[in-house]
This record gives sequence, C-alpha cells and structure tokens, in this order.
Amino acid sequence: MTKILVVDDEANVQRLLQYTLKQAGYTVWVAGDGQEALKLWQSEQPALILLDVSLPKLDGYGVAEKIRADEGDKSHVPIIMLTSEKEVEQKVRGLRAGADDYLVKPFHQAELLARMRGLLSRFGPQEGGPKSRPPLGKMIAFYGAKGGVGATTISINTAIALHTELDRKVCLVDAVLQFGDHRVFLDLGNDRKSVTDLMNAPQIDAELLKSVLVKHDSGVDLLLAPTSPEEADLVTPENLAGVLAMLRTMYDYVVVDVDKRLGDLVLSILDHADEVHIVMTADLSCLKNVRLVLEALRRIGFDPKRLKLALNRSNAFTGISVGAAESALKREFETKITNEYRVAISAQNTGSPFTYSKPDAPLSHEIVELAQAIDASFAPQVVAVAGAAQARIGAGRGR
Ligand SMILES: Nc1ncnc2c1ncn2[C@@H]1O[C@H](COP(=O)(O)OP(=O)(O)OP(=O)(O)O)[C@@H](O)[C@H]1O
Ligand SMILES: [Mg+2]
Repeated sequence: MTKILVVDDEANVQRLLQYTLKQAGYTVWVAGDGQEALKLWQSEQPALILLDVSLPKLDGYGVAEKIRADEGDKSHVPIIMLTSEKEVEQKVRGLRAGADDYLVKPFHQAELLARMRGLLSRFGPQEGGPKSRPPLGKMIAFYGAKGGVGATTISINTAIALHTELDRKVCLVDAVLQFGDHRVFLDLGNDRKSVTDLMNAPQIDAELLKSVLVKHDSGVDLLLAPTSPEEADLVTPENLAGVLAMLRTMYDYVVVDVDKRLGDLVLSILDHADEVHIVMTADLSCLKNVRLVLEALRRIGFDPKRLKLALNRSNAFTGISVGAAESALKREFETKITNEYRVAISAQNTGSPFTYSKPDAPLSHEIVELAQAIDASFAPQVVAVAGAAQARIGAGRGR
C-alpha cells in the first residue's frame, strides 16, 4: 500500500488527515515535528509527504530543504505544503524550499486527494526513467466582461502560444459549460469527450482524466465542454474544482475559458486561479460590468495582484479612448490587443486558431507577448529557458 507521511503538530489535523487518507486506501505515518519528519522520511521512505509549514523544532520549509538537499537528483519524494497563511510570499517560499504543491487550510478533502493522486502518478515508483521537473501547475482564467468581447479567442490563442512558443505543457479547459465554443473554434466534432464523461465515475483519477482529454494539433490538451446545455448541470463546482486541481499537478498551465455568470462555479474557478484576466472592450456596458466584477472579487477577498485587465480590439472606434477607459476604471490595462476582425473571424470559421495557423499575424505577436508576460511572472526559476524561447521567437519574426 502507498505510504503517506503526514507532518503536523495539531492533533485534530493529524486525526482528520489520518482518517481521510486511510479511507482512501493509503498507509499513514504521522510526525508531530520537523525532526521526527526527517527520521520517518528516512526510515519509511513514504511515497508522498503532507507537510505543515509551522512545526516545532524544524519548520516545514527547513524539512523540505533538507529532504531536497539529501535527495540530490537521485530521487524525488512529492511534497504538498500545508499552509494556514494565505500570503502569496508564503506559497512562493514553500515552493522554493522544494514543495511540489501547496494547499491553504482549510481545504476540501476531495481537492487534497486529487492533488495527491496527480503527484503520485507523476512521481510514483511505477514511472520508470529519469524524473522530469515538476510542472509549474498554474491556473490562468479568462473572464469576458460581457458577451462577445473575445474571451474565447484570447484564451485559446494564449494557451497555444504558451505551448508552441514557450514550450510549456498546457491544458485548455472550456468551462463555459452550457454554450462552450471550443469545438467550433478548434474544429472538433460532438463525438469528442467532455468534462461530463468524468462526472459518473466513482472516483476521478489521473488515468480517467487523461482518457477524456483531446489532443489539439498544436500540442495543447483540451478538456471540452458538454455537447448540450442540459448536460452542464451534471458538473458541480466541487467536482470541477477537483478536476482543475488534478490538472494543475499534470500541466505547467491550465488555461480556463470561464463563463460570464458569476455563480458558485465561476467564483470558485476565479478564486483558485493564479491569474484572472478580465477581457473587455472600450464601451460603457463593459466599463460598468468590469467595475461590478472588480467589486464582487473584492468582496470575496480576491487578491487584486492576481487580476489583469485585457482590452480587446483596443484600436476599434467605440467613442471611448483607451485613456478614457483607464481613467474611468482608475487603473491601466495590462494587455491591449488590436482589432483585426478578418484574422479573428477567419480563424474562427476555419477552426484553426491564428497563433497556430498565422503565427506571423500582428494579432498572433500580441498574444505571444501576453503568453510571455504570463510565463515571466510564474517561472522566474526558468528564465533561461523562456529567454531562449524569446530569442527563437524574435529570430523567427525578424525582430
Ligand atoms: N482582436 C480581435 N479583433 C477582431 N475581432 C475579434 C478580436 N477578438 C475576437 N474577435 C471576434 O469577436 C467575436 C467574439 O469573440 P469570442 O467568441 O472569442 O468572444 P467571447 O467573449 O468568448 O464571446 P461569448 O460571450 O460568446 O463567449 C468573434 O467573432 C471573434 O472572431
Ligand atoms: Mg466565449
């Protein structure tokens, strides 16, 4: 049976985790402080460690650092850091110390198990050959401030650019469950599987998840929306959160095209996303909606640093200039994408996204810049790789 080492000094957390993990079929070892954790790691060689941050004797960061230093590149035990602090710096510190993932307490047991299964399938003993670097595991959401502003266009093309230009492993999720457009934009028939094919399974594991993903020619994996609107109700916020959490353990970027309706499902996606890009155009109803969305996100305690504004069709005449839109919102746009209707609509009608079929179009260059900006904020440790990719892009485009 797969051995899990739980490291936490609180008796009730220990009990709860022990119960949850045993129910799920794992063998559990428990350490109450950092030094005991290191001893058990050496003697029991667990398949995965759940590691609390604040511990007596040696804290979680110290434990993770020591384990990584001792392992060298011979082996890699997956570590999930459990933190009670919500600060981004804490998460970053945890990941730098050598954790593969983190969970903020309190967390849902389904999410914990999903992340554990993802990491175990990636680093488990059944996987032969050299260990590859762990995925970045970032979730990027695109939210349209109103219908038809280009959220689908931008999310699909950004996902492709992250993969083709920056060499990232990417999964694109169509979370517009009732009226998802990805089958149209990517020329895929209704016979392809969707997220609802996961919902009847008693347990979602990485193998099942992989079996419903569709490979796009660009190399991006897709999780499609159901083929009919009534099927959308089968997908609950909890289930989708579990699926997204598992995808994060498998990919560098999980790019999500989000529905407009700000219900539980959408709020849960936005809340878990590492970055939310609100896509809008410069018109009064978008300005009003963006203000309302910013307000709603503020109310749920969303960290404003994770929020980016993307002005699409920025040079189209709307009667409201970029400057006027920025001063109405009292903030600047992080991204501006120009209006190129022919490129956008013909890509859509042929089912071949422009970043893939027309990489030299100015619209594609702008999307690549957006992908680079996203990657630069999440992958500081691999700047050299991104730099090489940029050089390649620059060379290809004669810049
Ligand atoms: N930068 C652009 N320049 C010109 N046309 C664009 C641009 N971006 C998107 N479009 C066009 O705008 C239309 C709407 O785009 P898209 O479907 O991506 O928007 P959306 O926000 O996802 O809409 P929905 O509310 O239906 O989900 C499409 O016809 C698309 O080709
Ligand atoms: Mg859309």
